[in-house]
Amino acid sequence: MKNQKRRDFLKTAGLLTAASCLPLNLVELAFADDSKNFTFAYISDAHIQQIKGNKFVRNWDRGLSRAVAETNLLNPKPDFVVFGGDLAQLGKKAELDHGADILAKLDYKTYQVMGEHDYYLDLGEYWSEIFGKQYYSFNHKGVHFIVLNSILTFDEWTFNRWGTAEQRMNEMAGLDNPNGSPFMVGEKQRQWLKKDLEKVSKKTPVVVFSHSPIQKIYKGWNFWTDDAEEVQRLLKPFDDVTVVYGHVHQIQYNQIGNISFNAVMATAWPWPYPKSYSQNKAYVPKLTVPMNRANPFHERDATGWQLIDINSGRVDLRYSLTNNSNRTVAYNPLTGQPEDKDFQEKTKQVPPQEHY
Ligand SMILES: [Fe+2]
Ligand SMILES: [Fe+2]
Repeated sequence: MKNQKRRDFLKTAGLLTAASCLPLNLVELAFADDSKNFTFAYISDAHIQQIKGNKFVRNWDRGLSRAVAETNLLNPKPDFVVFGGDLAQLGKKAELDHGADILAKLDYKTYQVMGEHDYYLDLGEYWSEIFGKQYYSFNHKGVHFIVLNSILTFDEWTFNRWGTAEQRMNEMAGLDNPNGSPFMVGEKQRQWLKKDLEKVSKKTPVVVFSHSPIQKIYKGWNFWTDDAEEVQRLLKPFDDVTVVYGHVHQIQYNQIGNISFNAVMATAWPWPYPKSYSQNKAYVPKLTVPMNRANPFHERDATGWQLIDINSGRVDLRYSLTNNSNRTVAYNPLTGQPEDKDFQEKTKQVPPQEHY
């Protein structure tokens, strides 16, 4: 894809359908039969932002460009790349075009996930024009991959509440804006998912890419998917299910029943940890441990890239952090959940809220 023009890339991406954070994640799928092993990379939350004309916020451009360059240098080469959503900051054509131009430099087949920053200006119209379907599935070397558009919300909020498309976009773009609305996958897509899963063997590893978490972490910041339980119910019959998500711009991991959850970092900036982690235990996913970082708004704090292994259908993430100690969140078959052993050992005497 290196020498392809953007138009060709977009056409290809549309046909293949597809997924994204600086963090770049490399996913390795390891099976008993070595010949089946493969890797893929994951980049997310670039938030490409137009200032005026062809001027864009340089730091966000650089975060994404760096991830693309590092991905191209990976050895062994990943089979494909996923972009996890929030390519644009305010959903503008100029932002999506500029972001797509940077992604077009990837040497790999690329799958796209829809983020709320890509969607709420024109309700995904231009994004779909350049990238294709908003939800879809594909099989790759024995694994069933599903991409969901998880950032939809109530019709009343989407269609009736706001005077202009720009206002709607701005209201949804704020992290802690009470005028926002909870994300959801929605009935139509859940019906599609149910049908899609009917043809998948219960023994097949299932990996879901979504932008929001498909679990309920903190509603005040929309680290939340309102119909998460209904989606989880559809995934329940399968032996090995992993949901990889962007949007939260931080390391999170969790286990709910048979489903492992792993967040990826952003290429743009890290979000701080919600106060709910310390204030409301009900919203704290078990074993989610904040990163030990002094300044959450340091330019490159909590950005970096990650290697992901999927062993027997379970995801292990190796976070390579630019300004923090590296972290590994690995699935522990003995406890049946993802764990960050080193970090938890180091921090077990200290309550998480002291690590903001
Ligand atoms: Fe984001
Ligand atoms: Fe987002």
